[in-house]
Amino acid sequence: MLEREILDRAARRRPYGRDVRLLVTGGAGFIGANFVHHTVVQRPDVAVIVLDSLTYAGNRASLASIDDRIDFVHGDVADANLVDRLVRGVDAVVHFAAESHNDNSLADPWPFVRTNVVGTVSLLQAVRRYDVRYHHISTDEVYGDLPLDDPRRFTEATPYNPSSPYSATKASSDMLVRAWTRSFGVRATISNCSNNYGPYQHVEKFIPRQITNLIDGVRPRLYGAGRNVRDWIHVDDHNSAVWAILERGRIGQTYLIGADGELDNRAVVRLLLEQFGCDPADFDFVTDRAGHDLRYAIDASLLRSELGWSPRFGEFRDGLAQTVRWYRDNQAWWRAGKASTERNYAAQGETTLR
Ligand code: NAD
Ligand code: DAU
Repeated sequence: MLEREILDRAARRRPYGRDVRLLVTGGAGFIGANFVHHTVVQRPDVAVIVLDSLTYAGNRASLASIDDRIDFVHGDVADANLVDRLVRGVDAVVHFAAESHNDNSLADPWPFVRTNVVGTVSLLQAVRRYDVRYHHISTDEVYGDLPLDDPRRFTEATPYNPSSPYSATKASSDMLVRAWTRSFGVRATISNCSNNYGPYQHVEKFIPRQITNLIDGVRPRLYGAGRNVRDWIHVDDHNSAVWAILERGRIGQTYLIGADGELDNRAVVRLLLEQFGCDPADFDFVTDRAGHDLRYAIDASLLRSELGWSPRFGEFRDGLAQTVRWYRDNQAWWRAGKASTERNYAAQGETTLR
């Protein structure tokens, strides 16, 4: 379908006169797809247009159950002409599309530079031209890492210090958004979130990789000594925070998103082994990631105090159990990507240490 028809259809679909047409980039990926589901259910006043190039990480099936309630454009955020035509017809953009996996960025950084940096510039130029509200989805990894067993956490004032090609491209994209806000008055906000978990996450990522290994009777695989700490948040809590920022966030402001979910990787694997009824020692240590960040930890006080946001998911154990159920019940969704993902890890030199 032509973009013009998609925009007209989105306009007709809006049930109330005052409502919003929202362009969601990367809406077939993990967080973007959950955001689109959340929006369709919680915000029937919003007409959603998804722009996604369906890389290995994008999955059209993630949107299948709501296909008749959204419009989907198969295209690239770095295609400035396409982006211009789409942005011209909407009220706001939420930019999730990215190359998102650290390990892949170590193997080949070029797609990261193209999508994460060039793609962001192409969106910024279009929102600038048509004065469209823009929300930029970013990561806590732009701040580098923290020592283990240290009370400090990242805040909006922490200096940028990215470690991997992935996080360096995300840091670049944040800086570009800041520059376009200051120099051209673009109405933008930025959020930097910690590690998400939940349904529709690609099996290359830590939690779904171990869940799908366990479903297949394969031992979980921990990088290095498994002591690295991540600050876990359920994807629905991330997305409710994005909505809070879109609606009530201050233009030009960065908000950190996190739910006080610090755990080391061994602890996550132990919880998973428990849920599968396995011995807590049934895992393997494998080759560590080059430059592996030690610890991420978010102080989300600004988001909580200024925008009144709080997470809905309480116990990580419960959210994890729900996620395990989802992967058990949706094997058709992930089977196709599992074998190629594991081949990819082997090709990148992953070997069992002990
Ligand atoms: P993902 O890899 O699951 O999905 C990325 C999506 O973007 C895919 O659908 C893919 O097809 C699409 N895409 C990639 N290149 C594109 C291009 N050039 N044009 C159009 N679409 C393209 O990623 P995710 O985990 O859902 O992450 C989404 C965003 O959230 C990213 O910006 C990421 O940096 C950020 N983020 C992720 C996490 C996390 O824990 N996963 C945490 C904080 C921030
Ligand atoms: O902090 C936010 C970031 O979280 C996002 O910006 C990234 O897009 C997202 O991929 C995620 O990055 P991480 O590198 O932290 O996530 P990953 O799932 O790759 O790894 C989580 C931790 O688990 C990390 O310490 C590496 C480790 N790990 C990972 C895999 C795939 C293992 O021990 N074994 C594994 O098999």
